[in-house]
Amino acid sequence: MTMSENNGNTFEEHSSDLTSQLDRSIDILRQELEEFGDIYLPKQSVSTSNSQGNQQPSSSPSPMNTIDTCKTLDELEALAETMDDLKTDLEGTRLVFGDGNPNADLVIVGEAPGANEDKEGIPFVGRAGKLLTDILSAIHMDRSVVYIANILKHRPPENRNPSEEERQRSLPLLHKQLELIQPKMVLCLGKVSANTLLGNSTALGELRGEAHPLHVGTHQTECWVTYHPAALLRNPNWKRPTWEDVQLVQKRYLELQCQPDILQSS
Ligand code: URA
Ligand code: URA
Repeated sequence: MTMSENNGNTFEEHSSDLTSQLDRSIDILRQELEEFGDIYLPKQSVSTSNSQGNQQPSSSPSPMNTIDTCKTLDELEALAETMDDLKTDLEGTRLVFGDGNPNADLVIVGEAPGANEDKEGIPFVGRAGKLLTDILSAIHMDRSVVYIANILKHRPPENRNPSEEERQRSLPLLHKQLELIQPKMVLCLGKVSANTLLGNSTALGELRGEAHPLHVGTHQTECWVTYHPAALLRNPNWKRPTWEDVQLVQKRYLELQCQPDILQSS
């Protein structure tokens, strides 16, 4: 039916029907994103004060400068449990430190924990996490082969994008994780993760498909970039380029003789 066939009434009914349909769809989408621990909710104006009206967590004596004294991931995790600097303005969240092989040659870096991750204290356990697990198994990698962490160690309220300030506050912990693990490769999932770790604001499409040198402390590694699995759930057109990216990562993993040997362990 074209607009000209529409009399005023029908058009109004039609458009109010559409509006309520759209509202319902948005509600469903929000619920799903919440459930999936997806961090790609459209940006809304989120107040930085919490329900009690308090501002950002006050920085009590920061253990940030004791990070350097940590000799193991376990020590670092114990320290991270005490660090207010890692928190967002959402109260009562759980530390999501990282998961997997502490000697991994490949570390995968996401953005921030969502609801599921906050519940379990483990990164990538929601629906995006299941997709990540599937992507890894497509290149014959079990999750236990790699180490998985996020830029932020605590969930942001309403799964909003982490602010620049939050990312910079959390980054020293990820750097220390990388220094302790000493991976040969890092794979960043999504633009926020890549831009934070590489210290640029380059578009994701321009960062894909090549190794970017990355220095953390005295350790030198290389950084690869692909789409975030939560983004793939929204836009399936990104699945093919992601598949191309992870095949490159697999090829490089074998070239660098990374351990464990995924051909033997698969
Ligand atoms: N998205 C992320 O970036 N990290 C998680 O741990 C889960 C979803
Ligand atoms: N935009 C992002 O921020 N991340 C993606 O993975 C894709 C598009």
